[in-house]
Amino acid sequence: MALALLVPGGRGQLGRDVVAAAPGDGLVHAPSSAELDLTDAPAVADAVGAFAATARDAGLRPVVVNAAAYTAVDAAETDADRAFAVNAAGPGHLAESCREHRVPLLHVSTDYVFPGDGVRPYEPSDETGPRSVYGRTKLDGERRVLSTWDRSWVVRTAWVYGEHGNNFVKTMARLAGANDTLSVVDDQVGSPTWSLDLAHGLVELAGAVSAGGAPPRVLHATGDGETTWCGFARAIFAELGLDPERVRPCTTADFPRPAPRPAYSVLSGKAWADAGLTPLRHWREALSAAVATRAVP
Ligand SMILES: NC(=O)c1ccc[n+]([C@@H]2O[C@H](COP(=O)([O-])OP(=O)(O)OC[C@H]3O[C@@H](n4cnc5c(N)ncnc54)[C@H](OP(=O)(O)O)[C@@H]3O)[C@@H](O)[C@H]2O)c1
Repeated sequence: MALALLVPGGRGQLGRDVVAAAPGDGLVHAPSSAELDLTDAPAVADAVGAFAATARDAGLRPVVVNAAAYTAVDAAETDADRAFAVNAAGPGHLAESCREHRVPLLHVSTDYVFPGDGVRPYEPSDETGPRSVYGRTKLDGERRVLSTWDRSWVVRTAWVYGEHGNNFVKTMARLAGANDTLSVVDDQVGSPTWSLDLAHGLVELAGAVSAGGAPPRVLHATGDGETTWCGFARAIFAELGLDPERVRPCTTADFPRPAPRPAYSVLSGKAWADAGLTPLRHWREALSAAVATRAVP
């Protein structure tokens, strides 16, 4: 049986790639925040109810994939109420409506739920400890989703870039055109993730849970491997035919930001692979593919 996907945040960077990755034999509804505001509980209830009915009438299996979030990490430090409403209360409303209509829910979360002082890739079961408002609101959202509806899954990801967002790859390409050299932090380690690869993973997971599968309820999905922001920037330069040596390493202390960044936020994909889901490819290979297909910059 084919899938029907409701994708709140459907006009965001990841949301638009979920639409692109969705199989053609089903149905996808990807509302913008103006069309479906997750902080509006009655609107969420109406939207999920109508979606579930439409999907089942059409003989499709409904799944909600939540790609909506307040993602302005620095702004969240001084806009905590709004960040909380979107990242914690909103997913809670979504989970309640999904429970009422028996619709599986996939909720996307972040490496920022961890303290970022690890020395090996974080497993889903590792202790959390967010250091930023954004991270705290996302962790609260995870807990609400998981405790509200037992057919809900949290998928944490990190360092996402894609065709439809303002992201690091586009920023590096723009700065490369305006500067001889760039200083990029070399003491934060993570895994770049092409949003289209993540989207395919989410669609695969949606297919599995809609068919009754029961993978672990917290999973990690990022590009394989790890690098620093400086390493990522050098790879972007190389992909664009520019001299990677134009990117110079610097430290986090050189660029203070309102919200602290995790020094180490590599997420282990072991649980994802053990659940029989296709591992996301290595971040370097994905970057080449994203540039080759002109998804970025
Ligand atoms: N980008 C990253 O590096 C990264 C890293 C780790 C995890 N993640 C997670 O990945 C997911 C997708 O992120 P993204 O990169 O696609 O971010 P994005 O491009 O900022 O997309 C987020 C979307 O959420 C929508 N939204 C905001 N408030 C909303 C509300 N009240 N109701 C409904 N929709 C609302 C936004 O719409 P408007 O613009 O119209 O407000 C936007 O389209 C998020 O859960 C994020 O936490 C991202």
